Amino acid sequence: MAKMEVKTSLLDNMIGVGDMVLLEPLSEETFINNLKKRFDHNEIYTYIGSVVISVNPYRSLPIYSPEKVEDYRNRNFYELSPHIFALSDEAYRSLRDQDKDQCILITGESGAGKTEASKLVMSYVAAVCGKGAEVNQVKEQLLQSNPVLEAFGNAKTVRNDNSSRFGKYMDIEFDFKGDPLGGVISNYLLEKSRVVKQPRGERNFHVFYQLLSGASEELLNKLKLERDFSRYNYLSLDSAKVNGVDDAANFRTVRNAMQIVGFMDHETESVLEVVAAVLKLGNIEFKPESRVNGLDESKIKDKNELKEICELTGIDQSVLERAFSFRTVEAKQEKVSTTLNVAQAYYARDALAKNLYSRLFSWLVNRINESIKAQTKVRKVMGVLDIYGFEIFEDNSFEQFIINYCNEKLQQIFIELTLKEEQEEYIREDIEWTHIDYFNNAIICDLIENNTNGILAMLDEECLRPGTVTDETFLEKLNQVCATHQHFESRMSKCSRFLNDTSLPHSCFRIQHYAGKVLYQVEGFVDKNNDLLYRDLSQAMWKAGHSLIKSLFPEGNPAKINLKRPPTAGSQFKASVATLMKNLQTKNPNYIRCIKPNDKKAAHIFNEALVCHQVRYLGLLENVRVRRAGYAFRQAYGPCLERYKMLCKQTWPHWKGPARSGVEVLFSELEIPVEEYSFGRSKIFIRNPRTLFKLEDLRKQRLEDLATLIQKIYRGWKCRTHFLLLKKSQIVIAAWYRRYAQQKRYQKIKSSALVIQSYIRGWKARKILRELKHQKRCREAATTIAAYWHGTQVRREYRKFFRANAGKKIYEFTLQRIVQKYFLEMKNKMPSLSPIDKNWPSRPYLFLDSTHKELKRIFHLWRCKKYRDQFTDQQKLIYEEKLEASELFKDKKALYPSSVGQPFQGAYLEINKNPKYKKLKDAIEEKIIIAEVVNKINRANGKSTSRIFLLTNNNLLLADQKSGQIKSEVPLVDVTKVSMSSQNDGFFAIHLKEGSEAASKGDFLFSSDHLIEMATKLYRTTLSQTKQKLNIEISDEFLVQFRQDKVCVKFIQGNQKNGSVPMCKRKNNRLLEVAVP
Ligand SMILES: Nc1ncnc2c1ncn2[C@@H]1O[C@H](COP(=O)(O)OP(=O)(O)OP(=O)(O)O)[C@@H](O)[C@H]1O
Ligand SMILES: [Mg+2]
Repeated sequence: MAKMEVKTSLLDNMIGVGDMVLLEPLSEETFINNLKKRFDHNEIYTYIGSVVISVNPYRSLPIYSPEKVEDYRNRNFYELSPHIFALSDEAYRSLRDQDKDQCILITGESGAGKTEASKLVMSYVAAVCGKGAEVNQVKEQLLQSNPVLEAFGNAKTVRNDNSSRFGKYMDIEFDFKGDPLGGVISNYLLEKSRVVKQPRGERNFHVFYQLLSGASEELLNKLKLERDFSRYNYLSLDSAKVNGVDDAANFRTVRNAMQIVGFMDHETESVLEVVAAVLKLGNIEFKPESRVNGLDESKIKDKNELKEICELTGIDQSVLERAFSFRTVEAKQEKVSTTLNVAQAYYARDALAKNLYSRLFSWLVNRINESIKAQTKVRKVMGVLDIYGFEIFEDNSFEQFIINYCNEKLQQIFIELTLKEEQEEYIREDIEWTHIDYFNNAIICDLIENNTNGILAMLDEECLRPGTVTDETFLEKLNQVCATHQHFESRMSKCSRFLNDTSLPHSCFRIQHYAGKVLYQVEGFVDKNNDLLYRDLSQAMWKAGHSLIKSLFPEGNPAKINLKRPPTAGSQFKASVATLMKNLQTKNPNYIRCIKPNDKKAAHIFNEALVCHQVRYLGLLENVRVRRAGYAFRQAYGPCLERYKMLCKQTWPHWKGPARSGVEVLFSELEIPVEEYSFGRSKIFIRNPRTLFKLEDLRKQRLEDLATLIQKIYRGWKCRTHFLLLKKSQIVIAAWYRRYAQQKRYQKIKSSALVIQSYIRGWKARKILRELKHQKRCREAATTIAAYWHGTQVRREYRKFFRANAGKKIYEFTLQRIVQKYFLEMKNKMPSLSPIDKNWPSRPYLFLDSTHKELKRIFHLWRCKKYRDQFTDQQKLIYEEKLEASELFKDKKALYPSSVGQPFQGAYLEINKNPKYKKLKDAIEEKIIIAEVVNKINRANGKSTSRIFLLTNNNLLLADQKSGQIKSEVPLVDVTKVSMSSQNDGFFAIHLKEGSEAASKGDFLFSSDHLIEMATKLYRTTLSQTKQKLNIEISDEFLVQFRQDKVCVKFIQGNQKNGSVPMCKRKNNRLLEVAVP
């Protein structure tokens, strides 16, 4: 976005008045008050028309930033508050755009800020003029020339810590585009006396201190210097250090600047060697030596320093030594050599030091000029003059005289140029020229510079005159020649006006300068004007091996010996001032008047008396008067109309016609008296500041009204826009909300409709269902009724065909049918024929329960029978026996289960076949049921003996196993009982009928592997033969008849260790113990 151009004016927010021309009423007091008021508000710049007054703030203000540069760039001079940048911009633009050479004249007393101002101007111009590598280098060189010149030409004084001790004029050269090309510096009157002597509280030139503080040890050794200031007579010691100044750092800055400006290393070195030589010259001391012919003579005290100087400069020591002791005067091929006394020797030494230094300074300026010389054609020039201002001290000498003369000339040129410009402007603008009454100082300039009877001419005349010349003779001469001059005052003059003026000493004269009266001491005028350096010294210098020193003293060259006296200091200065003035006259002048607010170098202090003094001698009131002589204020029609157009309805807000007629309408509308203004060609001229201020007040009032109006409209607009925005937003929100609400409502209605719909549908469906169900029930009921009805009908019809027991028959029939069905089904469900199959189909009808169980029993019996029917007689017998055994022993004798699987064989011992037992066989006629070997237990000791056990139909026989001889024969009828244990053993006892024959030996106790079989067969045989059941006792303790005694056989749980065979032991008479494992 393009930056909005805001039209401002110097008159906006003004503190006091920004332009002294507008001061009302104009007096010294109001002038100073205005300056003070502005100074107190940090407004250090004030205008007098186009002249800038600058009051030194003695502190850094934030008004020189790059932003400020931009603010002032390309702005009208009166558009912003007064600033040195405004003047610089005006000058630069006038140079660039109107092809006018410019000069900026900066004046003011020591410490007023001239040098700073000149630097500000240069930096502003550098900032706004062209860019580019080459241009930047030129700018940099121009700017960097300042630190170099300040190091060699500035010194600390009581007035200023960085006081310029020379006058400087610098031309900055530009090409047609306004880009800088280079520059030329001119220097005026270096205060060289400072080299050898400084007033109390002041210092020598900065460079000496900078060199000693900042140089490396190596450099110091090379220059044969020591760092200690106190070693050098030429350096004042009481103020060697300046507060806030770092000499060492500045030395580096200066060397760097020299490099940028273009000094070669060897050149810098030479310069420093000359500086060192000057310092060391001060240390050469002389002592008096009387010669025979009575003439005073001097001698160098310590030649060491001299030796070192000569080494440094390449001068023959004897030559220099001689130059300090003799003075040769040449006149018309005659050479007269006189000795120098101590005072003269010191004078010669100091003169050499001063000359050496001042010539070095001039050489430096020339060398810089060489570097910054424009390489191409120069079109335009901007000169910046930084020259000492008017000086009035207690003791004013030749220097002040010269300086004040220069200022007098500057004032002259100022008056001339200002008036000329004013007049030119009036002519240009076609305004009637009225005579201006002002003081013209041309008369004072004439008093000083007039070629025949001017003071400078008198002085030269006196200096050149043969015979004894002193300052007094010079004053006398003045008293004769100038006595009648209005601005010359002297007590001794012929004019009796000052005879009784005690403020005017006899050795002085006073000049009424334009800026005030100054009393000059004549002492030293002649000498300083002569500025003598003995020829011997310049010749000695010329002989130096040091090329720079040699070049500084060309007059020392014997080949170019010139017996003519060199021009005096006064005439030199006059000539250079004349050149300067000529130069300045061809340029457009811009003035900066610097004012020092206090003597303490302190911020915020405004010493009114001091300022008043400066205002006076700078002729500032004069300045205002000249400027205000005709019209106090002028402004081009355009800006004027722009600024005040709001004061009149016709011109506000837009004036269609030319600006001038707009202003005319405006002024007549405002009823401003006609004598208060004049219409120029392009500008309106206002005679009195009062008129302008009235316009300003009106404008301010009107602006406030306008501001209120704008505010009102703006607020209205803002409220309306805000309202419209709110309204628009409200509509959008409402629309959205409505949509949302309607959506919600619709969804609710939709779901409600669905619910209602489903209810109604349900209700309808249920209704139909009910209907249908009803119809169905009706149909069914009708059918049922019809069926019953039919039944009834049929029964009624057929009743006659039924017997009384029809129901019973039907019942029986049904029952039969069911039973039939049951049996038929049972037939198919019959379990297998295995007698051990426990399966049986479940019962279908409860009333058949008993039948079902019976059927099961019958079936079982039947299949058992079936099973049995398969057996042969032999098998049948075997099973009968097994059955018998089972009945007898099952669950009674532990041995029984093991016997089940063993088939009963009976005749284990095949007596028939074994011939051994033929006899036995023959003895038995009956059928043998059992033939087996058993162990007969000896009832006496429990031991067993094998016996053949035979059972026949009627008897029981025991025979010897080996022989087959029958041992015992017992008829079965005598067997009463068989006893055995319940355990898993084969012991059994056969009890015999008491009293029988067989029982005489007692009961038998056997053990057999086939106990179960034997006991069963014995039982069966006894039963079939005797028709009596044999008693079989199963008990773990039973009695056995032993002859007459009864022995108890007891079965106990035996130890497994004794093997698996039961052990039988006779315990005592009555107990036989069998341990069963
Ligand atoms: N515009 C300024 N802003 C801040 N300080 C300033 C300004 N002008 C001057 N000064 C201060 O005042 C001191 C003296 O200023 P400057 O050296 O310019 O004086 P001068 O007029 O050149 O004196 P001389 O005639 O002795 O050379 C500066 O060193 C600086 O401290
Ligand atoms: Mg200065």
